[in-house]
This record gives sequence, C-alpha cells and structure tokens, in this order.
Amino acid sequence: MQGVGNPIVVLDFGAQYSKLIARRVREAKVYSLILPFNTPIEELKALDPAGIIFSGGPASVHASGAPKPDPAIFDLGVPVLGICYGVQLLADMLGGKVEAADEREYGIAHLTHDDPTGFLSDIDAQTQVWMSHGDKITQLPEGFKAIGHTENSPYAAIADAGNRRYGVQFHPEVVHTPQGAQMLSNFVHNVCGCDASWDMGSFVDMALEEIRAQVGDRKVLCGLSGGVDSSVAAALIHKAIGDNLTCVFVNNGLLRKGEAKFVQHVFRDNFHINLDYVDAEDLFLDALADVSEPEQKRKIIGNLFVEVFEKEATRLGHMDFLAQGTLYPDVIESISPSGGPSATIKSHHNVGGLPEKMNMELLEPLRELFKDEVRNLGRELGLPENIVGRHPFPGPGLGVRCIGAITRERLSTLQDADAIFIEEIQNAGLYDDIWQALVCLLPVRSVGVQGDERTYEEVCSLRAVTSEDAMTADWFRFPPEVLQRVSNRICNEVKHINRVMYDVTSKPPGTIEWE
Ligand code: XMP
Repeated sequence: MQGVGNPIVVLDFGAQYSKLIARRVREAKVYSLILPFNTPIEELKALDPAGIIFSGGPASVHASGAPKPDPAIFDLGVPVLGICYGVQLLADMLGGKVEAADEREYGIAHLTHDDPTGFLSDIDAQTQVWMSHGDKITQLPEGFKAIGHTENSPYAAIADAGNRRYGVQFHPEVVHTPQGAQMLSNFVHNVCGCDASWDMGSFVDMALEEIRAQVGDRKVLCGLSGGVDSSVAAALIHKAIGDNLTCVFVNNGLLRKGEAKFVQHVFRDNFHINLDYVDAEDLFLDALADVSEPEQKRKIIGNLFVEVFEKEATRLGHMDFLAQGTLYPDVIESISPSGGPSATIKSHHNVGGLPEKMNMELLEPLRELFKDEVRNLGRELGLPENIVGRHPFPGPGLGVRCIGAITRERLSTLQDADAIFIEEIQNAGLYDDIWQALVCLLPVRSVGVQGDERTYEEVCSLRAVTSEDAMTADWFRFPPEVLQRVSNRICNEVKHINRVMYDVTSKPPGTIEWE
C-alpha cells in the first residue's frame, strides 16, 4: 500500500453497507479496505490502520455466535467508530449495556447534537439520519458520553473522545443521512488524523501492484464487452501485464448498431491489446428464435456466452485467470436497509459460475468499485471519453430490449431506433446528464397514418434515467422538443415503427431494463 498512507479498516459484521462505508471513506480521499470481523489481530496490526470502523450487521450482540472482534482490538490504541451493530458491540464489549428495544426503530430520524467539534464538526445542530436497529444501548460504558440524540435514541451518537472511540446508532454511510459523509470524513480526518491524499492515481498504482503480484507471468483471459466495466478492467490489466492478457469479444448479435466495429477499433488499433473477435451472431439468434420469456432469454444468452467463451478459451490454449469487470452493484443488486440478504431480481450472466467451470482463478480488479469510480479510473488510464463516459449496457444486450420474440428484422429495427435516440441525446448535449438511455421494441402493434396510408406497425418505448449506481433510478425530464425530434425521426426513418412512447417509471418499482 505504498503511497496511500495508513488505511482505514472497515470490519465487516455482515452488513451489506460495508462497501458503502469504505466508499465514503475513499470519497474523503483516504484509502480504506474491508476485512472480515474476525481478522486476526496480528494481521490488523501489520496493516497499521489509522482507524477502524465496525460496520453494522443483522445480528444482536446477545445472540449466540454473534460476530465479535478480538477484544485485543481495543489495545491497539487505534481510533474506532462503531456503526449500528458496531456501536452496540462497542457498548457491550466495553462494559455498557445493550438491550432489546420494545420496538424496532427504522427509517428517518432527526439527530440533535450539542458537541459541534471533532466527529460532529460542521454538522447542523439538527440533521436527518437513517435508523435501522432492534437493540439499543441502555447504559454507556465508562468514559463515554452522548454527543447526539434523537427522539427515540438518547445515545444515537456517543463518544469517548479521550480514547478516540465513537459510535452512531444510525447509518452515516447512506444517502438518507445527508450529512453522514461529512461525519465519516470528520472521523477519518479529525479523529484519525488521515491526510486527504488517496485518489484514483493511488488506486491505479495499488491495483497494478496487486495484479502483478497475483498473476506473476501467468496468462489472463478477459471477456471484453465494450462496456465501461470490462473496458476499464482490460486497460488496467493490460497496463499491469501487457501481452499476457488476451481479450475475447463475443458478438452475440444483440449489440448496438456499429458496436462490434467500434470496439475492435479502440482496443485492437488504439490500445494494441490482443483481441480475439468471435462472430457468434447466428448461434445466439437461432437459439433465441421464438423465445419471449425474459428469464429464459437471459438463461439462453448467459449459457451460450459461457459455451462460446469456453470454446474460445480452449482454442487459445491454457489460461490461468479469468478477468471480469465485475463491480459492486453487479454483485449485490440492492442494498437492503435492514441489512438482510438481497434478492436476486434478475440473473446477471456476467457473475456466473464461469471461472469454476473453466478451472481458472478469478481476477476482478474492480470488484470494490462503484460505477463513477470506474469511470474515473478509466480516465486515469487514458481511455477515450466515448468509452469511459458511455452509458451502461447489459450483457444480454438488445435481447432484453426486444420485448417479445427476437427476430433479425425486429433487432435491426430496434438498432436503428436506438441509434437515433442516442444520437439526438448527444446532439442535445444531454448524454452526460443521463445515466442510461435505451429503446425497447414492444410486442404490440398500433395503427397509424403515414402519407395518407394506413399503417399497422411496431411500437417502441424510449427510456432514459438518472441514477447514482443503478440501484435506484428516476426518469429523465427531457425538454419536449428533444422527444419530439426523436419521435419524428424514428417514425420517419425507421422502417416498421409508427409509434413512440416515453417511459416515466422510476426504479423502484420498475427496473431500468424492461426484462
Ligand atoms: P435493472 O434492469 O436490473 O438494471 O434495473 C440495473 C443495471 O444493470 C444493467 N443490467 C445488466 N448488466 N448484465 C449486465 O452486465 C446483465 O445481465 C444486466 N442486466 C441489467 C442495466 O442495464 C442497468 O444498468
């Protein structure tokens, strides 16, 4: 971890929020890493952390087998911040009392504080916080005092400033605690004394070092889709190990118009990466003929992808690692406020059982990162803006946007409409204001009139959303004239579409893709 300073360690007690905590710390320009709660004390010592954060978790401190760290952690002399379950652990392990509350406190609360220094400096006297806990602290351990309370929690924020131990019953890492990022920044800067020195440049140095250490002079195979994630992963790995990386790009026939050529141009011609282009269009489209059910489509596409990829890997000779541009949101679909297990909403084919099946080790250098961090990483690596700034595109591609039966003709119609939509968004200078824009071809037809003739053609739905991380999304408010231009162009220029809709569904309850 050269050049990134002493890290902040987030000890994970089973909360899905742990990564969000680590992310907030990194946003405060301090390097952070997540470790399991039972990480041996020697290992922690070796890291020489500047501070330790106990994450939340679904357990009760009184439950048998409740996850607890080695008590020797308190002898390290390192500042500690406990969050939710973490603060209850602090109280319980340091001699306070934690009891089951009569009622679970869940949702928004208002924190009033009377100590505007250190951990709570620059925080409003009253500020919104997000609560989600069953147990509560009923007696503080010696040395602690309350530095903030809510209507239901007298010990919502507590501190033993002398020993640099802090705790909050609420979740400072979530957006529903608007000043939570500031509190975490206060902890790492004011309490732990960290410099704001960590940035994407430091991440690159660290990631290159890690990749080289993990891979050595062995061979890496990377599935390149042309999307931001796999492109950045490929560029990063290529920078680390050069020609020992081979990328495989599978044209599944479900790509955007012109995409196959574009990706080959960028990676083969500009970046000089070993790129293996596989034209599997017929294979996929034949297998998808007459399939309309969304999960069935996804399974077929996912399975075929694995099949094609495996065949290609065998053809290329022995590879030791499989690299994937897996991000945090790919792994966990939704961060559940209760800390409970997240549900599989849709099967994402790019986080499947590929590597085990292929007997390869997995290399996922972006696994800890959120999308915006990956974009910054791509820029740091010199990838062009039209790659790093691109909207996300799902693995199953237009397959899940061609609602109903997938035929070559319908796909071509969809590609044309999609190209117009994206082009007009770019012309209007709105591309970067939108998280993702897409067109779905609907399985209905409608009557229209064109040049005095009755038409009975397909209907498409435009979708554009704003989002921070694809977990929630809102529909984009277009100036009406942009929608009008898109609609005119699609109806005039795209054969077989005579009606254009605009989708005004947020996520939840909708998802971003239709299938
Ligand atoms: P949903 O539709 O679930 O999508 O709101 C959330 C984000 O994930 C993308 N997505 C996928 N990405 N493989 C991917 O790589 C997939 O199978 C897949 N399905 C959805 C979607 O485009 C959006 O950005």
